[in-house]
Amino acid sequence: MSRALFLASLALAFNLAHAAHDSPAAHSPSVAEVRATLAAMPKGNAARGKQLNQSLMCASCHGNEGVAPTSNWASLAGQRAAYTYKSLLDYQKNGRHENARATVMQAAVSGMSRQDMADVAAWYASLPAPNPAPVRLDAAAHTRIDRLVRRGDPTRLLTACASCHGAAGQGGINETPALAGQTVGSFVRTMNDYRQGHRVTDANQGMRQFAQRLSAQEIRALALYYAALPKP
Ligand code: HEC
Ligand code: HEC
Repeated sequence: MSRALFLASLALAFNLAHAAHDSPAAHSPSVAEVRATLAAMPKGNAARGKQLNQSLMCASCHGNEGVAPTSNWASLAGQRAAYTYKSLLDYQKNGRHENARATVMQAAVSGMSRQDMADVAAWYASLPAPNPAPVRLDAAAHTRIDRLVRRGDPTRLLTACASCHGAAGQGGINETPALAGQTVGSFVRTMNDYRQGHRVTDANQGMRQFAQRLSAQEIRALALYYAALPKP
């Protein structure tokens, strides 16, 4: 091999290794890992988080008050701080990349410290959840979905969504997110990403398994149901 070729291939190998380092392969955490991550979460400063939401341009997609202006982006207002913090770390450290849009988030968090993440998380958690969206399921569908949410479906090994996400969609303990008022587009995309195994941030594959047991119609109806829930 000529010296020039050798140097070129060395440079290529370095670039590939470097690129791989910059965006780590998506990593599925264990329950113990998530617990350790959250135990080490710094105490958040909501006032500083409010400033970061502007200075880091988060507001341009997620809104000045954490309410996304379109269904394209996720709303963050009223979200549990632990879940927001874990999500930001997943993008930065664990290679969360469920769809092309996640590239935007990987870039947005690239320079954030853990303190910054805890601060924006505290700010979003301090805000009221989004207003219920003016969408409606017809009465029969609402009854069916409400039952699925509250009781699950043992014949399909579906645990009640409410047992983890709260009876009012307010979120549960630790990293279990609030769902009330979430945008329909973001909700459906998220469930499909779990279903197809593109999103792997759920410890023990809980959400991946549940999403696989739901039909596309049920996922859409669940999104409408949660988008229209009154503020917790
Ligand atoms: C250009 C638009 C854009 C910008 C700027 C942006 N985000 Fe995002 N954000 C997204 C998209 C898209 C998603 C993925 C969710 C989805 O598919 O709807 C997301 C996801 C998130 C999530 C995870 C939400 C969930 O439900 O899993 C958090 C938390 C978040 N963003 C916080 C931030 C913060 C903090 C900033 C600023 C540092 C920021 N975002 C900047 C578009 C943006
Ligand atoms: C055993 C507890 C549990 C049950 C039951 C459960 N979830 Fe989840 N869900 C979670 C956890 C924990 C996460 C966060 C996982 C992660 O970090 O990726 C999550 C994440 C989600 C998200 C992503 C939210 C976001 O904005 O990123 C949606 C949507 C969701 N669940 C909907 C549902 C629905 C609908 C049901 C019922 C069919 C359900 N979940 C049942 C624990 C649960």
